[in-house]
Order: sequence, then C-alpha cells, then structure tokens
Amino acid sequence: MSSVLSSGTQPVRIEQDVVLARQVVRKAAIDCGLRLIDQTKLVTAASELARNTVVYGGGGDMDWAILEDGLRKGVRLLFRDEGPGIADLKLAMTDGWTSGGGLGLGLTGAKRLVNEFELDTAPGAGTRITITRWT
Ligand SMILES: Nc1ncnc2c1ncn2[C@@H]1O[C@H](COP(=O)(O)OP(=O)(O)O)[C@@H](O)[C@H]1O
Ligand SMILES: [Mg+2]
Repeated sequence: MSSVLSSGTQPVRIEQDVVLARQVVRKAAIDCGLRLIDQTKLVTAASELARNTVVYGGGGDMDWAILEDGLRKGVRLLFRDEGPGIADLKLAMTDGWTSGGGLGLGLTGAKRLVNEFELDTAPGAGTRITITRWT
C-alpha cells in the first residue's frame, strides 16, 4: 500500500492551463526525487493528456500526488473530465489514430513514458486517465 506525501489539483480548462499543469508536474517530479530523464518523461506524458482534456474532454482537472511505497517514491496524476468519453478505446489506443486532426500519438506515447497507465471512459461518461512514474 502506498501513502500520499503531498497532493493537489490543477484545473485544466484552457490551453494556458496545460502550461501550468506542466509546471506543477515538473515540481512534483523534482520534489519526489525522480531523475531528470524521468521528470521529462512524466511532464511530456502529462502535457499530452492535459491537452486532450482541454481539446476533447471540454476541460477538466488534474489531480496530482507524490506517493511513497516502501523504498520507492512516485508521482501519480489523474486527468478527469466530464466530456463525451471515448467510444472505441482500442482505436484511440492505436498509434496514429486521431478523431481531430492531431498526430494520434498522445495516448500511446503517454502510456510508453510512464510505469502505470489506466484509462476509464465510456460514451457520455467522461474520461479518467491515471498515470504513475516511480523512482
Ligand atoms: N479526454 C478525452 N475525451 C474524449 N476523447 C479523447 C480524450 N482523449 C483522447 N480522446 C480521443 O482519443 C484520440 C487519440 O488521442 P491522442 O492519442 O492524444 O491523439 P490526438 O490528440 O492527436 O488526436 C483523440 O483523437 C480523441 O478522439
Ligand atoms: Mg492528443
């Protein structure tokens, strides 16, 4: 069982919030003791998910937490919105698939950059994506 050392919430409503979310994640990653390369991986993943929250989710929030689990520490991020949800998850998790003229590499890229990736969504029920990067 992991315990929470610190936590907070960053609104992710407009494009500028993506920048704020990146800064919050970078600080949490530094405070957590993630090495530079892992800080950058987490910030990059968060950036993609935050942008999706704004563009497709109609805005939402990012909950962040620094966790301690035995000898390791980590940063966990939850991106949540009350938007349309994702109808075909398998399609959305395919490299290069986009519904909106993007590159279609945000979700798949984010998944590769973290240690844990969980996606909960249903049409009309919004989207919740949890990612964790451990030291
Ligand atoms: N929060 C979300 N709410 C609704 N749909 C989403 C959300 N995030 C991603 N999607 C869907 O998944 C697709 C793939 O996302 P992504 O891999 O980031 O590619 P891109 O942003 O380039 O389209 C998006 O085109 C969109 O249809
Ligand atoms: Mg995207």
